Amino acid sequence: MGLNHHYKVLLLALSILLLWHSTNASEATKGRWDTLLNSTGVVAMHMALTHHNTVVMFDQTGQGPTGYRLPARRNGPRRYAHSVEYDLLRNRIRPIEIESDTLCSSGSILSNGSLIQTGGFGSGSRRIRFFRSCGNGRCDWREERSHLSEDRWFASNLRLPENDDRVIVLGGDNVFSYEFVPKRVPNERPFNLPFLHNTYERNEGGNNLYPIIHLASDGNLFVFANRDSILLDYKRDKVVKTYPRIPGRGSRSYPSSGSSVILPLSHKNNFDEVEVMICGGAAYGALAAAQRGNFLAAKRTCGRMVITGHHHRWEMESMPGPRVMNDMIVLPNGNILIINGARHGCSGSNYGSNPSLVPYLYKPKRPTGSRFTTLASTRIARMYHSSAVLLPDGRVLVAGSNPNHQYAFGGVPHPTELRLQAFSPANMARDFDHRRARNVTVKGRRNEEWVGYGEEFDVEFSLNEKVRRNNNDDQVVFTAYAPPFNTHGMSMNQRLLVLRCNKLVRGDGGLWRANVVAPPSSKVAPAGYYMITVVNGGIPSRSHWIRFIHV
Ligand SMILES: *[C@@H]1O[C@H](CO)[C@@H](O)[C@H](O)[C@H]1NC(C)=O
Ligand SMILES: *[C@@H]1O[C@H](CO)[C@@H](O)[C@H](O)[C@H]1NC(C)=O
Ligand SMILES: *[C@@H]1O[C@H](CO)[C@@H](O)[C@H](O)[C@H]1NC(C)=O
Repeated sequence: MGLNHHYKVLLLALSILLLWHSTNASEATKGRWDTLLNSTGVVAMHMALTHHNTVVMFDQTGQGPTGYRLPARRNGPRRYAHSVEYDLLRNRIRPIEIESDTLCSSGSILSNGSLIQTGGFGSGSRRIRFFRSCGNGRCDWREERSHLSEDRWFASNLRLPENDDRVIVLGGDNVFSYEFVPKRVPNERPFNLPFLHNTYERNEGGNNLYPIIHLASDGNLFVFANRDSILLDYKRDKVVKTYPRIPGRGSRSYPSSGSSVILPLSHKNNFDEVEVMICGGAAYGALAAAQRGNFLAAKRTCGRMVITGHHHRWEMESMPGPRVMNDMIVLPNGNILIINGARHGCSGSNYGSNPSLVPYLYKPKRPTGSRFTTLASTRIARMYHSSAVLLPDGRVLVAGSNPNHQYAFGGVPHPTELRLQAFSPANMARDFDHRRARNVTVKGRRNEEWVGYGEEFDVEFSLNEKVRRNNNDDQVVFTAYAPPFNTHGMSMNQRLLVLRCNKLVRGDGGLWRANVVAPPSSKVAPAGYYMITVVNGGIPSRSHWIRFIHV
């Protein structure tokens, strides 16, 4: 009896140990999910990280009560927050007050770190707003007096490589033009873009809304909508290239929302080569089918194409499963995380089904056929109106989801989701801490906070390892990441650069000092705050902010 009891205890201890070991082992290969908050109060339809290490989240103002009640004004009606600022360090939210309707709007982080936010729905569709994060928890939204020239609902926003912080706002529901903010000359008219007419499918909800825009390092804009793409010289209002159509039926743009990134740009080719990748989307006829309650399997393919040079061909690959409404995030080590979304249907109110709970990791440098792996599954569905952003500590913040017209927590296929999660990619696991650069400092030479284009800056870190350097594949690399504005699977302005390192020397006690070179121009990296990461054999350090500026 006593022996048997001891035996049982031993067995229990052993199985706990095994379980503990296997969860740790799986964390180091599949990553890990944590719930940070049970409620953000508002649905994070839109998210953006600021250089004060806060994340702005906002929803639409038109859908009635949210999960965040504000104190009523004297004898006034009930009031609810539609926007919050999340403080990473304190794991806390505070309400910030937004005036006009931001439903399905767009944005960019400006060179001074402020967020410019454009368009939305109804009376919000021509509004321009700023959010200035100041790190002290006091700053708020400000609505600009000037307006956009056209309604920009489901439009895209991108920073331009100019000295004066200009953005382009392109497309919108039934709007086939682009415009600049601020305008280049007073009373500048919007520019008609026939490409947007040509890619519009009236019976399928457009299938070309939220056009994908990437800044090529020659200063032109790659614009993709539905299945087609062009290179736009916005300065001369000229289409300078038309690319081949991406193979396969179905579409990649809203409401067939796939997602896109530019693969890491590298100093090794002077940042000249730009390669675009697009993953997921919806089957042909997905919207009409979903409206009849029939959810078609989403697109399973990704396409990769070099958009610079003279030869353009889509290289197609298959993901481990079909996916729509997905987000794509470039991790500091250059791998791509594909997260959120669903396996069937398309974007829009309850037009998606069968949530994609398993993120995919894509390693672009591996041979074709061995680039994808599947990661740890979450239990929380992230359907229409969800979002994801990369954080300076290497985690990915995941929030939102609400395919319903109002907040609904029961009696609907996909309830409103207010829980805030962080996904930690496998390379964040403790198992790799002995290989992780620590105590990283990043400093400009003339001023600690900024560095001019093409200038050297200093990165110091501790690492208890020998470091191998060679011409092809350095063990330690330094990357710079532009924080995007995320909504509807779009990460506007996201880009990762692998920077040149002129010198890497070892000092005392495992301390290293590197002379790293800022990107050569704003065409390669528009001015502003970037996250610098030391990556040792694929293992990233924490990231630190530096500002690239014109001097
Ligand atoms: C969320 O709520 C659950 C159930 O009440 C609780 O166990 C959990 O600790 C909460 N999580 C957070 C992050 O507050
Ligand atoms: C940044 O620039 C914008 C546009 O000029 C301005 O509205 C905003 O207040 C500025 N932010 C800061 C922090 O200076
Ligand atoms: C790194 O920082 C920790 C504290 O943050 C300190 O204890 C340690 O000595 C530092 N290491 C080096 C090599 O500077």
